[in-house]
Amino acid sequence: MEVVICSDGDEVGAVAADRVIAQLAGKHTPVLGLATGSSPLNLYAELERRSAAGDVDFAHALGFALDEYVGLDPQHPLSYRQTIDRTVVKPLGMNPERVRVPNGFAADLEAAADEFEEAIREAGGIDVQILGIGSNGHIGFNEPTSSFTSRTRIKTLTQQTRKDNARFFSDDETVPTHCVSQGLGTIMDAHNLLMVASGEKKADAVAAMIEGPVSAMCPASILQFHRRAFIIIDEAAAAKLTYADYFRHVAANQPG
Ligand code: F6R
Repeated sequence: MEVVICSDGDEVGAVAADRVIAQLAGKHTPVLGLATGSSPLNLYAELERRSAAGDVDFAHALGFALDEYVGLDPQHPLSYRQTIDRTVVKPLGMNPERVRVPNGFAADLEAAADEFEEAIREAGGIDVQILGIGSNGHIGFNEPTSSFTSRTRIKTLTQQTRKDNARFFSDDETVPTHCVSQGLGTIMDAHNLLMVASGEKKADAVAAMIEGPVSAMCPASILQFHRRAFIIIDEAAAAKLTYADYFRHVAANQPG
């Protein structure tokens, strides 16, 4: 795991954008794994600037979102389909037809989840999976106790996650109860993982992910087993790390 501690969310976005661009360099058809939520917004804004400056081109890119609510029409403004189109696809100049979001509105949700997995395989896997972390340690919507080998499937959201996401809805009652999420096994198959987190609300989950035991109680801790997991966090999210000084020292003393 490589951990970079930044002064604030803007720097998190800039460092993360550098990393995404470096990892996609030379690829004609890069494959991006896309997270929704607040955490990656600085990163997406920075990628928009860099693509406008000609540093990177997403026109041929393929995209796969991490998750979607069950029961929300893809046209619903709060569906992750619409959120991804609004916050990523349009600003980055991606082709919406080349960006898939798990289907939470299909008549057969399981078959749709299997098709989503198949599409990732056909694309040759995800080059860079962008991740945020939930306050309970979830990645995607893999809530605590999710299987480490899980694939895209239906999950029940915890009350904590529904409460955390109620800020987007009129009240907690209207937050959907279920979702379709890439599994932890799906996420771990990505060639590179890039996690961004900011703010003190994430400090406990970030410490458990990086320094805690690998446990299904903190699904993000599975990142400890990935060979190319890059974690970019701000000072507030790093506040509970015992090894924060070590991570700063490593970042300031890169070999070569
Ligand atoms: C969203 C997703 C979630 C979020 C997490 C953090 O697609 O996969 O795991 O990344 O809930 O959400 P924010 O960034 O809104 O705090």
